[in-house]
Amino acid sequence: MWQPDPDLKRSALGLVQHEPHLMANLANLAALFYHSLPDLNWAGFYLWDQLSQELVLGPFQGKPACLRIKSGRGVCGTAYLTQSVQRVDDVHTFPGHIACDAASVAELVIPLMWQGQCVGVLDLDSPIQARFSAAEAQQLAQLMSELMPHIWPGERLTF
Ligand code: SME
Repeated sequence: MWQPDPDLKRSALGLVQHEPHLMANLANLAALFYHSLPDLNWAGFYLWDQLSQELVLGPFQGKPACLRIKSGRGVCGTAYLTQSVQRVDDVHTFPGHIACDAASVAELVIPLMWQGQCVGVLDLDSPIQARFSAAEAQQLAQLMSELMPHIWPGERLTF
C-alpha cells in the first residue's frame, strides 16, 4: 500500500530552491524521482517546443527515449492536450501509446502548468502493472505545481 513520502517534497524543494537554471533543476528532479519512487524504469520530462509545436525530450533517467511527441499522441501528448494527469495501469490498453522501453507497463504523466498553459510534462514509467495509485498521482501533481514557481524561467531565472 502506497504511503505519502514526507521527505520527497523537502528533498525536491531543497534541490531546486537555490538554483535558477531550468535544465539543472529538471535533471536533479528526474534523478530524485527515479531513485526515490520505487519500481520505476524511467523518470523524466518532455518540454513543449514553441517552434516545432511538439513535446521535446528533456532531462531524464532510464533508457534513451523518443525525442519528440506531438500534442494528442501517446500518454504524454494526451496529458499535454487535455492538461490533465494521465494514470495508466497498463499501457498496452492505451490507444496510441508510444513504447520507448518495452519493459514499461504502468505510466503516470503529469502536466506542468505555468500561467494557465501546459509547458511540458513529467513522465514516470514502471514495469509493474497498476504501479501508480490515485493518491500518489495526486501527491506528485501537487508537488510539481509547488515546484513550478521555483524552476520555471521567469524574469530572474535562466534556461
Ligand atoms: N510512453 C510515452 C512516451 C514516452 S516514454 O514512455 C519515455 C507516451 O506514450 O507518450
